[in-house]
Amino acid sequence: MQPLTKHASLPKNSRVIVQDSRRTAVIKDRMAFKLEGVVGRLLALLPRASSPLGLLQLCALVLLLAVLYRVARLLWSHALNAHRLRGFAHPPKRNWLLGHLGLIQSTEEGLQSVDELVRRYRHSCTWFLGPFYTLVRLFHPDYTKPILTASAAITIKDELFYGFLRPWLGPGLLLSNGEHWSRHRRLLTPAFHFDILKGYVEIFNKSTDIMHEKWRHLVAGGQPCLDMFEQVSLMTLDSLLKCTFSYDSNCQERPSDYIAAIYELSALVGRRFSHVCAIVHKFTADIVDRRRAQLLHQGEPETHAADTRTGRRKTTDFIDVLLLSKDEDGNGLTDEEIKAEADTFMFEGHDTTASGISWVLYNLAAHPQHQDRCRAEIDALLDGRETEEIEWDDLTNLPFTTMCIKESMRLHPPVTTVTRRFSQDMTVAEGRVIPQGNICLVSIYGTHHNPELWPNPEVYDPSRFDPENSTNRPSLAFIPFSAGPRNCIGQNFAMAEMRVVVALTIRRFRVTPGSSEVRRLNQLILRAEGGLWLQLEPIAAP
Ligand code: HEM
Repeated sequence: MQPLTKHASLPKNSRVIVQDSRRTAVIKDRMAFKLEGVVGRLLALLPRASSPLGLLQLCALVLLLAVLYRVARLLWSHALNAHRLRGFAHPPKRNWLLGHLGLIQSTEEGLQSVDELVRRYRHSCTWFLGPFYTLVRLFHPDYTKPILTASAAITIKDELFYGFLRPWLGPGLLLSNGEHWSRHRRLLTPAFHFDILKGYVEIFNKSTDIMHEKWRHLVAGGQPCLDMFEQVSLMTLDSLLKCTFSYDSNCQERPSDYIAAIYELSALVGRRFSHVCAIVHKFTADIVDRRRAQLLHQGEPETHAADTRTGRRKTTDFIDVLLLSKDEDGNGLTDEEIKAEADTFMFEGHDTTASGISWVLYNLAAHPQHQDRCRAEIDALLDGRETEEIEWDDLTNLPFTTMCIKESMRLHPPVTTVTRRFSQDMTVAEGRVIPQGNICLVSIYGTHHNPELWPNPEVYDPSRFDPENSTNRPSLAFIPFSAGPRNCIGQNFAMAEMRVVVALTIRRFRVTPGSSEVRRLNQLILRAEGGLWLQLEPIAAP
């Protein structure tokens, strides 16, 4: 220690420093004394571990300390994360602990509150689900683009939003990540090539014919008002079963266990979930096993070879493509992998398309002038033909109907949100950073209802999709099928089916709104509470 007498000879400011350091030393001594006192007293409180009761108390204390430590860490990292996200808007919370937990609703009011959020915050905001999860809600292309177009290698489908689908879909394309996803996406892409899709247009026509035949009977029997969701989802399921498995379920005419199970799974009936999953998995497994056996015995099926029983050409179905697909090393998909992919197609492909078609019919029912114009377009296309069948090449000759479909998917996107997590920090617009691990919720609905991108967003106006009116709009302003590497692999399939079904329906029926008020319901897909009821009036063939 330095002798104190020396201080007298030190310059003035040095004396202040020495006095300060002495004071600090005294404070430190006092604190150490106090700390010793506190620790000592705490130690005195510790139960003696010599008796069994004491041991139990000791364990309980250790456990309590561990829990307190975890809670403190959680709150600390939550506070740190919230601090890092301070550049984003924080809408009012319920309270400091729950944050916005419970404020997201699937009802009409819930969707209106998203409209409000978008009007107020314009591009993004944060949403705290208690101290456990933070969502960054994004609803402007400047903010969604870096998220949607990020490399798949750093993209993770989060378990919070997608995990509950795992027992049903397994490691199918929708839920997988990383190398597994890239390999499967490469192997599955040929299944959606135009040459394959062309063959499905005939199936779309046939399934629509069956639905319309049923409608004519129902209307003639005094039931002119029908729930479009119920009717159309049976039809899209019928189509998809034919396209995926070449399986003729006749599900539009009579019920089956598989169809009931798919319905129930889509409605997410909790307790029976695993039982119903088992029915769906068995159905898929039986078909894949049978096809694999056929392949081993008979070799590769001849594409478009005539079916010996019916004399009709056999359409290459998804299972054919998946069974035969091989990667660069000549390795194909295992049966388990094919089953997961087929289950994923069934899940992703029928309800989404049914929602899309139902909402188009709803919007056309509400806007007879657009409906009439679609009808004129399809009548002109089919004028002079012997059959009413829409062919692949016709699909590009329905420009106004396509504009009506797109505008309907803007206003009523079948999938309203997608979420992502990333293995690194993500920079979005204006230098804002979303720290690694946060869930990025890309609001498709919010983007489609953003007044900065779509003036008067609540108005159904197909002319927005007139090529002339689309030039100044950011490319990711319209994202019903998401965008980037993890976009919808089935979008061309879906658009083709929607065009066939909408065009034939409008040609054959006049649709008008049902009598009840329509309240939107944002479940896995966008539905309507109690169904979407429309009046149908058959039109005599021109
Ligand atoms: C109107 C109809 C449809 C809509 C609106 C739609 C929408 C979407 C969206 C938004 C995604 C991204 C999901 C996410 O990132 O979480 C997606 C992915 C996917 N969709 Fe679709 N979809 C439709 C029809 C279909 C059809 C008909 C199929 C198959 C037959 C299909 C198969 C898939 C698959 C496999 C994925 C996962 C792709 C991947 O992650 O690589 N979808 N779809």
